[in-house]
Parts: sequence; C-alpha cells; structure tokens
Amino acid sequence: MKEFSDIAGGSITSMHCGGIITKLYEVESIEELFRLLKRFNDFLVIGSGTNMIFSQNRLETPVITLGAAFEYIKLEDNETISVGAATGISKILAFCEKNGLSGIEFMAGIPGLLGGSITMNAGTKDRGILNKVDQVKLADKHGIHTLSADKIPFGYRTGGIPDRTVICEARFQLKKESETAVRKSIQSYLLKRMHQPGGYSCGCIFKNPSGTSAGRLIDKAGLKGVRIGGAKISEIHANYIINEGNATPADIIHLMDMIRYEVKQKFDIELAEEVRIVG
Ligand code: EPU
Repeated sequence: MKEFSDIAGGSITSMHCGGIITKLYEVESIEELFRLLKRFNDFLVIGSGTNMIFSQNRLETPVITLGAAFEYIKLEDNETISVGAATGISKILAFCEKNGLSGIEFMAGIPGLLGGSITMNAGTKDRGILNKVDQVKLADKHGIHTLSADKIPFGYRTGGIPDRTVICEARFQLKKESETAVRKSIQSYLLKRMHQPGGYSCGCIFKNPSGTSAGRLIDKAGLKGVRIGGAKISEIHANYIINEGNATPADIIHLMDMIRYEVKQKFDIELAEEVRIVG
C-alpha cells in the first residue's frame, strides 16, 4: 500500500485546484483495502477525480484510491465482461471494440474510471452506465458483497450505491457485434461530444433538470463567459466551469452559487450539483 501525506487536491482532480488532503492511501489488493475499511469509519474514495472538487479547507477524512491491481478486464464468456473499478472508461471501450462487444458505446468520451462512473451513474442525458451493469462487487469492513443491478436504486446521475462501501468490480452483459459496428457506434458518440470544452474542468457542473438542459438555461440566462477569479463559465458549453489556471475552489463555488441564483430568478428552476464538493 502506498501512503501519501499532505497532497494538494488540485494534483489529483481534473479541475486542478483544491485544498490539502491529509492522508491518501493507494491500495493494491483486497486485503489492503479491508485493512483500511476496518480502520476507518469514515472515508472517501477517489478515482481519477473528474467529478470532484476539494474545498480550500484541509481534509482530515482519509481518502482511498484503488491501485493497478483493480485495473483489469476479464472476458467471462462470449458476451460477458468483468471489469476492475480502477479501469478507465476509454480502456473498456477499446476492449469492447477489439472484441466486438456492443452495449456501452454511449460512454465514449466520458473521462474517468469505472468506479466513479458507477458512483454517479455517468452517461448521457437519457442513459447511465448502470443501465448496462449486470452486477457490482462492493467491499465494506465485513467483506465483499455482490449486488445485482436490480437491487441498486440508481437514477439519473445517481448511482444508489450504499454509503461506506467501495466499488471493486462490475460485470456487464453485452451483445456480440462486428468490430466495425462497435467502432462506428463509438465514433458517433465521440462526435456528439466534440463540441464540449477542453481545459481544466469537471465536465457538467449541474444535473439537467427534468425536461430541459442546465447548459441551455445557463446560456439563456446570459452567463456564458462570466468569470469569478480564475473560474469562468465556458463560452462553448454553459454547464462547464473552466479553471483558467489559477482558480481557487472558492472561485468555483461562488460561480456555482451565482449560476444557481440567476437560473432560479429567471426560470424559477433550482439547479442541483452534478459535481461533488468535498470538505
Ligand atoms: N445548449 C445551449 N447552450 C449551451 C449548452 C447547451 O443552448 O451552452 C443546448 C444545446 O444546443 C442542446 C441542449 O442544450 O440543444 C442540450 O445540450 P447537449 O447536447 O450539450 O447536452 P446536455 O444536456 O447539456 C448532457 C450531459 C453531458 C453529456 C451530453 C451528451 C448532463 C448534465 N449532461 O449534456 O454530460 O455529455 O448530454 O450526451 O446530463 C457530464 O455529465 O459531465 C456531461 C457533460
């Protein structure tokens, strides 16, 4: 197990800003993970930090991350794969393409690792990864539990995974297709995401309210390009906040408050955060 002290939140998140994390543990086996789970009542799990912002306050809660031992894809049979939680979504899709397995192409272009994607049920506006998961293996201080997807109360950008558990693996039932068909399907989703902004961000900041798009509302409120400190509402897609290099978590949080306020004033709609603010 690797143990790190006083890590800058910005060094492990795609927003590239954040306060100090007192302890970060990188586990390399289930045994190491159990040891930590028995030791801590409260903890946080981080994958590649694509949907998380650490506030300016020092974080005393221990943070756990899964190491390379949790990065794998196993072909169980013709159409079934089991995937470790630390595996990148892009790697899973490359595997699906090579093996002609169809079903999760809609995840193409979504950054991050499988564990985080399941936690927030990442996906498109009408589908999340949990729609395609067949079962999930979760660890807590008592051991490993296998949960079938129909027992998980997931929804739009909500994984429904129990608190104080760590996602270790997920199994997918996919459909055999030609490599070319899977590639074309992946490319079609990548094309749809081509208009999304680059730079330091967390992807979409707010969930889409029912029946509309948060990006469209923020845009209609005239907020594109608005800045607080080093944080800016993207001119390309209004549901993205971009760290222009020197944003503090407070800049981002103030900008989010301002967006929420303006959208509520103009459209009487309360925006809910998609991004997780910690600390
Ligand atoms: N729109 C605007 N102005 C903007 C942004 C969008 O008018 O600044 C309009 C678009 O023209 C379009 C509509 O709003 O008519 C929807 O926009 P888009 O297709 O970009 O989809 P979205 O609802 O904003 C959702 C997901 C994205 C995902 C895309 C594509 C949420 C919160 N967002 O965005 O996911 O990539 O669909 O599938 O569900 C993420 O979760 O981090 C994320 C970026």
